[in-house]
Amino acid sequence: MAEPAPVPMVDLVAQHARVRAEMEAALARVVESGRFIGGEECSALEAEFAAFCGVAHACGVANGTDALTLALRAWDVGPGHEVVTVANTFIAIGEAILLCGARPVFVDVDPETFTMDPGRLERALTPRTRLIVPVHLYGHPADMDPILEIARRRGLRVLEDAAQAHGASLSGRRAGSLGDAACFSFYPAKNLGAYGDAGMVTSADGAFIEKVRRLANHGAGAHRYENLVAGTNSRLDALQAAVLRVKLRHLDRWNEERRARVSAYTRALEGTRGLAVPRERAGARSAWHLYTLRVRERERLRAHLAARGIAAAVHYPRPIHLQPAMASAGGRPGDLPVSERLSEEVISLPLYPELPLETVERIAAAVRGA
Ligand SMILES: Cc1ncc(COP(=O)(O)O)c(C=O)c1O
Repeated sequence: MAEPAPVPMVDLVAQHARVRAEMEAALARVVESGRFIGGEECSALEAEFAAFCGVAHACGVANGTDALTLALRAWDVGPGHEVVTVANTFIAIGEAILLCGARPVFVDVDPETFTMDPGRLERALTPRTRLIVPVHLYGHPADMDPILEIARRRGLRVLEDAAQAHGASLSGRRAGSLGDAACFSFYPAKNLGAYGDAGMVTSADGAFIEKVRRLANHGAGAHRYENLVAGTNSRLDALQAAVLRVKLRHLDRWNEERRARVSAYTRALEGTRGLAVPRERAGARSAWHLYTLRVRERERLRAHLAARGIAAAVHYPRPIHLQPAMASAGGRPGDLPVSERLSEEVISLPLYPELPLETVERIAAAVRGA
């Protein structure tokens, strides 16, 4: 009998095949326009993505890491300031904080949703705190109501790291509209992915978004070669904007398809000994960027899946307070027991809208048999 086909974590070729004709038309439109940076394609994406998130303003940038760095800079975060965030995440927020000359302060997370534990937030705040950055990890919205309540009481702003959460919502309000601003990544494998790097900052505050825009375009003033502040080049490509506009039209359906695969996984895996399936907090709707289990014997499961041609990945094997790159922040093992434990237990299974439901069953059977 033929071996079953290997299963990747994501399949961007399958996704492109679903939108090939629309995509080719959109790409041709940009190429024929001769306008490759900024312009109508970019402003149309900004307006459409802002509307999708339910927020008034958006600025496209070169990637999600720049989105975070520029948002911090636009709020004048700098030396002597602290930014409070989480450590069980991708390194980008830590880099953005250090790049601004500020100090990252890490708060532990809730073991059920893997997002910032509001019960531990208050004691991480000091007179130097400028900003709180919860991460909507794996697509699950952070517990924003208590976080915002603490922030408001202390006169602090909240920035959502929504890089994994396009389309997630809390009590019907979408990620991107929950905090004072939000940052998105359109890295190709995200729920909304470009054909290269791209990112976006969203906010209800138009003046803040214009500051981000200026910083992302060499601090440009109203006149050509007038540079008002030292910015950088983090502009969005028109080709990426065109790709994202095509995919945005399908995003709600694709997120529903992710949800159907998640339900199938959970039905098949719930109650299996030695593992915990991911859950949504009441009122929260995850974008299900990743389907991440907690398991007791991760290496055994990984090897078992690999032997059957099934990909799996660890997001993330080392919490960022223990990364050498963050050493200047002074993190030590034991500082964040939940995050550290999760880094030893989490494992993500393949999840993408085109993943056949029979393959979900096959993967779940392999997990149960490990
Ligand atoms: C939570 C989180 N924040 C930020 C980023 C950075 O985005 P980018 O890779 O577009 O710079 C990522 C992306 O990979 C991410 O997952």
